[in-house]
Amino acid sequence: MKNDGYLRALRGEPVERTPVWIMRQAGRYLPEYRATRAEAGSFLDLCQNAELACEVTLQPLRRFDLDAAILFSDILTVPDAMGLGLSLEEGVGPRFARPVRDAAAVTALGVPDPEGELRYVMDAVRTIVRALDDSVPLIGFAGSPWTLATYMVEGGTSRDFRRVKAMAYEQPALLHDLLGVVADAVGEYLKAQVAAGVDALMVFDTWGGALGWRAYREFSLPYMARIVETVKSAPNGSSTPVTLFTKGGGQWAEAIAATGCDAIGLDWTASLGEVRARLGEGVALQGNMDPMSLYGPPAAIRREVAAVLADIGDGGRHVFNLGHGVLPDIDPDHVAVMVDAVHELSARGAS
Ligand code: CP3
Repeated sequence: MKNDGYLRALRGEPVERTPVWIMRQAGRYLPEYRATRAEAGSFLDLCQNAELACEVTLQPLRRFDLDAAILFSDILTVPDAMGLGLSLEEGVGPRFARPVRDAAAVTALGVPDPEGELRYVMDAVRTIVRALDDSVPLIGFAGSPWTLATYMVEGGTSRDFRRVKAMAYEQPALLHDLLGVVADAVGEYLKAQVAAGVDALMVFDTWGGALGWRAYREFSLPYMARIVETVKSAPNGSSTPVTLFTKGGGQWAEAIAATGCDAIGLDWTASLGEVRARLGEGVALQGNMDPMSLYGPPAAIRREVAAVLADIGDGGRHVFNLGHGVLPDIDPDHVAVMVDAVHELSARGAS
């Protein structure tokens, strides 16, 4: 691979500069993304068209000096393949036609065949791997079982997660049944992504931080641990680095590291240096600039990049990223300022 800095940093090997990629790096803040989405018809049509999904995956790499590509897809493709009927409305967000709210609905769920209902995702992976031609690694991903369950039970985006949290306290066994089948589905899905050619995996536990610490250890963390174990015991799985990202989960970093993951994604509420001091070098850290800092002028963005790099100190085993996805109204030129500043300010040795 021409540029394997991202994989080297995840493994704790020396790097010449801190690698950087951006959550939601392909997306609406890029005019070329909006044009390709319009050509596809809709967001879901875009996900289901391997050539166009490949095109939007590559778009940010043409503009910015990024050290990794991330598969263009969505975490909600898995529950959609489980029969929930996903739609995405502009300004409303994702919706499921058939949310999961009782035992009958949980019992009816099966584990989708990644090369069946989800074949379009694997086709996209194979197309992107060919197009990348060993230039940079490709990251595959899935949602965490808990985060997927929030959408499956609520039926869409939620402010307070009332229905799914009520299920956790009223019918914990039912929620565990749901999380179990979702974890099986995600495990199969991620193994298939590895077989199709992704170089690394990330699990997005976007709503883990909405749980109390006991509930997090009961309803989110064990299912992510199961997924790490499933992936690591599969062919090629032991050499595929896995990043777990629980938004708002910095205070639980020790417990997250104990799953055997290779890296922990942190949002901007955590100090990379403090988490590093607590955990040592045994795990990589990813993050964690505030996505809103990209509203600032270039000089302020450079100062913020320098502050994130200074926080982690020696810069070892660090993958630079935002603490959550890039926002749709960010100026792409500001993203370029960030990416270039990361490389320039973290350069080590001869460069
Ligand atoms: O990071 C990347 O560039 C890869 C692509 C990617 C998307 N979604 C594309 C997308 C990834 C990794 C995701 C993950 C995802 N999807 C998460 C976890 C990460 C996070 O951001 O917290 C979640 C919670 C979702 C669910 C989801 N998908 C929501 C709530 C929405 C609507 C809100 C929004 O931002 O529009 C989506 C749609 C979505 N997923 C878009 C993109 C580019 C926007 C769709 C459009 O083009 O209109």
